[in-house]
Amino acid sequence: MKKLVLLVALVGCGGPYMPMATEADGARASSTADELNRGRTLLLSDCKSCHQPPSPRDLRAADWPSQVEEMRERAHVSPPDAEAITRYLVTFASEP
Ligand code: HEC
Repeated sequence: MKKLVLLVALVGCGGPYMPMATEADGARASSTADELNRGRTLLLSDCKSCHQPPSPRDLRAADWPSQVEEMRERAHVSPPDAEAITRYLVTFASEP
């Protein structure tokens, strides 16, 4: 019974792909896990007022910088915060 509940929770309420960064992800991004997760937190807080925060897999890595730059002004996000958001999205994007 417990197993079934867990399965339903995983499938039903998994939400969009929004992984926490590990140290390995940080190294892969020439950054740190903390900095990537700061971008994740900003994405979840600053990009949710008009629509669901996008999942990194919604776009390819190459397409994220211009997309965030376009949204940055609408969302009133500072350039350094937008950079952190972009780095997070690029690191977990659907393909490089
Ligand atoms: C003030 C409202 C607002 C905020 C805040 C906002 N967006 Fe958007 N976003 C929109 C609207 C409206 C659209 C629909 C498409 C368009 O008008 O360009 C959109 C579309 C998008 C899309 C889909 C574009 C496409 O071509 O499929 C992405 C990705 C996106 N936003 C990312 C972000 C990110 C990242 C942030 C946070 C930095 C953010 N948005 C914050 C209003 C907002």
